[in-house]
Amino acid sequence: MEKSKYVMELALLLGLIFMLSINPTSYAEDHNNNNLVTYIVHVKKPESTKGASLQSEELHNWYHSFLPQTQTNSNIKDRMVFSYRNVASGFAVKLTPQEAKALQDKEEVVSARPERTLSLHTTHTPSFLGLRQGFGLWNSSNLGSGVIIGVIDTGIFPFHPSFNDEGMASPPAKWKGHCEFTGERICNNKLVGARNLLKTAIEEPPFENFFHGTHTAAEAAGGFVENASVFGFAQGTAAGMAPQAHIAMYKVCNDEVGCTESAILAAMDIAIEDGVDVLSLSLGLGSLPFFDDPIAIGAFAAIQNGVFVSCSAANSGPSYSTLSNEAPWILTVGASTIDRKIAASAVLGNGAEFDGETLFQPNDFSTNLLPLAYAGANGNLSSALCFPGSLKNLDVKGKVVVCDLGGGFSSILKGQEVLDNGGVAMILTNPQSVGFSTFAIAHVLPAVEVSYVSGLAIKGYINSSYAPTATIVFKGTVIGDSLAPTVVSFSSRGPSQASPGILKPDIIGPGVNILAAWGVSVDNKIPANNIVSGTSMSCPHLSGIAALLKSAHPDWSPAAIKSAIMTTANTLNLGGTPILDQSHLPADIFATGAGHVNPNKASDPGLVYDIEPNDYIPYLCGLGYTDREIGVLLQERVRCSSIEAIPQAQLNYPSFSILMGSTSQYYTRTLTNVGPAVATYTVNLEVPLALGMSVNPSQITFTEVNQKVTYSVEFIPQIKENRGNHTFAQGSLTWVSDTHAVRTPISVIFK
Ligand SMILES: *[C@@H]1O[C@H](CO)[C@@H](O)[C@H](O)[C@H]1NC(C)=O
Ligand SMILES: *[C@@H]1O[C@H](CO)[C@@H](O)[C@H](O)[C@H]1NC(C)=O
Ligand SMILES: *[C@@H]1O[C@H](CO)[C@@H](O)[C@H](O)[C@H]1NC(C)=O
Ligand SMILES: *[C@@H]1O[C@H](CO)[C@@H](O)[C@H](O)[C@H]1NC(C)=O
Ligand SMILES: *[C@@H]1O[C@H](CO)[C@@H](O)[C@H](O)[C@H]1NC(C)=O
Repeated sequence: MEKSKYVMELALLLGLIFMLSINPTSYAEDHNNNNLVTYIVHVKKPESTKGASLQSEELHNWYHSFLPQTQTNSNIKDRMVFSYRNVASGFAVKLTPQEAKALQDKEEVVSARPERTLSLHTTHTPSFLGLRQGFGLWNSSNLGSGVIIGVIDTGIFPFHPSFNDEGMASPPAKWKGHCEFTGERICNNKLVGARNLLKTAIEEPPFENFFHGTHTAAEAAGGFVENASVFGFAQGTAAGMAPQAHIAMYKVCNDEVGCTESAILAAMDIAIEDGVDVLSLSLGLGSLPFFDDPIAIGAFAAIQNGVFVSCSAANSGPSYSTLSNEAPWILTVGASTIDRKIAASAVLGNGAEFDGETLFQPNDFSTNLLPLAYAGANGNLSSALCFPGSLKNLDVKGKVVVCDLGGGFSSILKGQEVLDNGGVAMILTNPQSVGFSTFAIAHVLPAVEVSYVSGLAIKGYINSSYAPTATIVFKGTVIGDSLAPTVVSFSSRGPSQASPGILKPDIIGPGVNILAAWGVSVDNKIPANNIVSGTSMSCPHLSGIAALLKSAHPDWSPAAIKSAIMTTANTLNLGGTPILDQSHLPADIFATGAGHVNPNKASDPGLVYDIEPNDYIPYLCGLGYTDREIGVLLQERVRCSSIEAIPQAQLNYPSFSILMGSTSQYYTRTLTNVGPAVATYTVNLEVPLALGMSVNPSQITFTEVNQKVTYSVEFIPQIKENRGNHTFAQGSLTWVSDTHAVRTPISVIFK
């Protein structure tokens, strides 16, 4: 096939993955009946069944009793989209607004509102993360065997070699899932389940045409694929984080309706019953109260069933408070770079050279200097962005054209605009918000994306030169960036809006220029792979790592696994200096959370901060939710008046998020010993600016495995003048023994 055709497909895809036009208010309408909209309805459980769980027929009858009574009762049954059994006491149903209103007025109905649509938010990553065959978490007895990862995504291209099952054991006996692909061995011991939860007119198997789900599934648990590359770059053996884990795909998105809330809840509902161990969701709705957030609701049921849930933090950075998936029972994953670049440089007539990246690297491009022009030199914003059609009156023929990144459309289309008007190459310059983050994209012409700072220098040279010239020099795959990991511009930042007393994101992991399985070849290579970026990519890395930990420590709870990942995270980059952000300034705690995942260390954390599902009840009461709202999450009656609510920061979380006013705050934390039976730990504090801290006791000796010890921390404000002009501060509290360091990060927001 022609490269340009692939590239256009790719342009659309990258547009979808990158642009993330979150559209929480667009309701998926029924195509046959425009009055009917899918509603998510939460109901109370019938009084008679207190305590006992309902049999499915009773549940079915109870849910059906809420359906509107009309003359055409046969149609009514078809209106039921899903009956939930695990994630909610409730169902999804197609209703007219009048019917919905009538339903809302019933005493047993907790809420009924139209469903929303959610947006979608690796050859080298294992070795970058220190995962080597035969060592540590990737030793002979592990690689995630016996663990099932449920990926809730756009579907899967099941024929990719990443999903071969050579050498894979059968799934564990508890697995009860289904495969909706018909045809011999499409599902196998690697891809053990595949379902399409979207209710469409024609029932279709869970194939996909985005390849987002194919990519994320392969990142979490793809098998070893030798000699993987894209355009020959990033070549090596590709593998997911847990190459021996099983994959179950639950399709909840298509290009017609997006990712629907009813399907996401259904996927989580079914996955829990199927017996998955880990759920991976690279999608989200933005910040919402947890009782109104379908992923938070489904994830709560998941952790009640011992299922670990990893979610993308969203791609709305670098502004503060731009997170999705903030619930404390979810691992919220931000994105950072790896130490590999698909490198190229812009070389100017004055000899200056500026490093950048591109995935399309023609080897016949001349290094002779060509005339250089800035498309925005005329002051027209749309020309500066090389918006389609905006260069037609400009003289760019035969030139290297500078275009600004951004504008809400794919950079590939900018290259197309340059090409269409006779330009021969493109230098893409970052806006300040993107800083030093660069992306290896399959441009349609010789191109390179350079940093904001480089862009200013290049434009300055154009301004000051009578006849500016430039060319692009392609450098291929370059490994060894000592600044990696660096937090990428788009990675969403805290503080959490839904629960400011919990630090989010929790962790960062590889999410920039990640090579993994794809459904069509972008470069005529077999196997088909692609290099893409997003927190959509970092989330499944952590899902796979959670599977490795679950395989190594089957008795650890979801909260214990999360604690192990967070308290052992790296705060330094490969060069040994604090992790930087897209501006190459030290990344703050709202960008990194606990830091960058270190899988091998996470397997041996020494101590964990554990949380039982019921521990969240006093926390939810402390958030100020009503009994009714908490009931949506717990699916049982809760009376906050009879429970001692706790402040958010008192949850036994492996980090602290403090809102500091003028009075001292006092919290406790409970440590569980999962390391050597006998160990003595001493506290080591990095006290945040303008604060005093005292920890009691400051030394703890454990004498048994699984022994629990509680300590207290007091945060003491100092005079306001000590804060200077800072609005927040950060620090850490680390329990240190001869062999372990258990670090919890501390964020402080000054009120
Ligand atoms: C690996 O791929 C490269 C480029 O695609 C090719 O030249 C080489 O022969 C392949 N090697 C093997 C062992 O298949
Ligand atoms: C900028 O250029 C576009 C496309 O050539 C044109 O439609 C638009 O009117 C211009 N805007 C201004 C402010 O000149
Ligand atoms: C280039 O010159 C224009 C007009 O003189 C000015 O507005 C712009 O700031 C200059 N840009 C740089 C990067 O120096
Ligand atoms: C592999 O690692 C796991 C957990 O890290 C450990 O329990 C096990 O003993 C190791 N096995 C071998 C063969 O080293
Ligand atoms: C904050 O204070 C420092 C030193 O006192 C100063 O350099 C800096 O410009 C100030 N920043 C703001 C945003 O006022």
